[in-house]
Amino acid sequence: MQLHINTSRRFGQPLRTEDLGRFGPDVIAEVREYTAPMDFVVTPLHRMGALAHRLGISTLLLKDESGRSPLGSFKALGGAYAVVRVVMAEAERQLGRRVRAREIGDASIQEIGRAITVACATDGNHGRSVAAGAKLVGSQAVVFIHGGVTEARADAIRALGAEVRRVSGSYDESVAAANEEARRSGWQIISDTSWPGYEDIPALVMQGYLLMVDEVLQQLCESNVSLTHVFLQAGVGGFAAAVSAHLSATLGEAKPRVIIVEPERAACLFQSAIEQRPVRIKIGEPTIMAMLECHEPSLIAWRILESEAYAFVTIGEAAALRTLQLLAKPEVPDPFVLSGESGGAGVAALIEACAAPHQRELLGLDERSVVLAFNTEGATDPALYRRLLDEQVPA
Ligand SMILES: Cc1ncc(COP(=O)(O)O)c(C=O)c1O
Repeated sequence: MQLHINTSRRFGQPLRTEDLGRFGPDVIAEVREYTAPMDFVVTPLHRMGALAHRLGISTLLLKDESGRSPLGSFKALGGAYAVVRVVMAEAERQLGRRVRAREIGDASIQEIGRAITVACATDGNHGRSVAAGAKLVGSQAVVFIHGGVTEARADAIRALGAEVRRVSGSYDESVAAANEEARRSGWQIISDTSWPGYEDIPALVMQGYLLMVDEVLQQLCESNVSLTHVFLQAGVGGFAAAVSAHLSATLGEAKPRVIIVEPERAACLFQSAIEQRPVRIKIGEPTIMAMLECHEPSLIAWRILESEAYAFVTIGEAAALRTLQLLAKPEVPDPFVLSGESGGAGVAALIEACAAPHQRELLGLDERSVVLAFNTEGATDPALYRRLLDEQVPA
C-alpha cells in the first residue's frame, strides 16, 4: 500500500461557504423529502468486532450499502436524486409554484418529465441510478458505457427502461461521448463528476449520498461512539467528498481523520495530492475495482478533499479480492457482508494499514481507534462476484 499524508496548505481549512451550503446539515430535510418517493431502506451499520480485534483497533463500523435498494449500491441515492431535482425544478418553473416531492406521480409532473431526456456516462452503478430516477419522473434516459463495462451491468441499466450506448475506450471516452451527444440533442447531462463550469448537477448527485451519511450519524448516536478514522474509497471522489464534507460540517472539531482509498491502477486523487492540483493520470491496466477506475478527480471533490483528507492511500488488486472473500466468510460473530469488487476497498486499506507498523503509526491507528468504513456495493454483477469468491488470491 502506498500512503501520502496530505501536505497541502489548504489542509484543515474550513469548508467553503458554497460547499457548506451544498453538503452541510441544512440540506438534509430536502434530501429526505426528495428521496422519500424512492423507497430506500435504512442500511445497517455493522459492528465488525472480530475483525477489529484481529486488526488491533477498538471498533470497526461498516455501513453496508449492498441492500439500500434493488440497485445494490449507495449510488442509487445520487443519480436518481439529481434527476428528480432537475425535473422538479423544471416543473416549478413551468407551473410557477413550489412543487413538493409527493407530487412526483401526478400527471402534470409526469408530462413535464416526459419532455426531458437525461444522459450520463457510467461504469455501471451511476447509470442504473440515473435510469431509475428517469423512470420515476417519466423521463427518457440514455446511458453511455465504455468497453470495460460488463454486459450484465448494461442489462441491469436496460431493465430500468434506459437506452444503453456502448463506446470504445475508457470511462473518459464515454464521458466525452455523452457530453457531445447531449449537446447535439438538447439532453440534460446528469454527471457524477464535475469540471470547470459544470458543478450544480454533480453537486446534487453528491447531495443524494447525504441520506446515507445522515443515517450513519444517527446510528452512531444510538451506539454512543465517537469516530477517530474514516476510510473512504474513491473513483472521481464525489462519494468521499460528500461524506467528509458532511461529517466536517456536522461534527466540527470532533470529526474523524479521513483517509482516501484508490486502486493503485487508477489513483488520480493520490497523484493530485502529491502534485497539489487536480491532475489527469495516464490510463493503465484495468482494475477489478471497476467502479473506482477513474483517471481525473471531480473538481468539487478535489476542492473538498484537499482540505478535508488527512491521507491518500492506494491498494493493490490482491487486497481488494482478499477483502471481498473475507467479508463473505467472516470470523464469528461478524456478519456476512455481500461486498462487490469496489465495495470493500475502504476495509481493504484499513487491513493493509494495520499490518504495516510504519503506516499504522502515520495514520495514528491504535487499540483506541474507532474506524468507520463503507461497503459501497453488493454483488452488482452477480456472476462476476461468484467467480471472484472462488478465485485464488495472488500472494
Ligand atoms: C460501488 C462504488 N463505490 C465507490 C464509488 C466511488 O464514487 P466516486 O466516483 O464518487 O468517488 C463508486 C462510483 O461509482 C461506486 O459505484
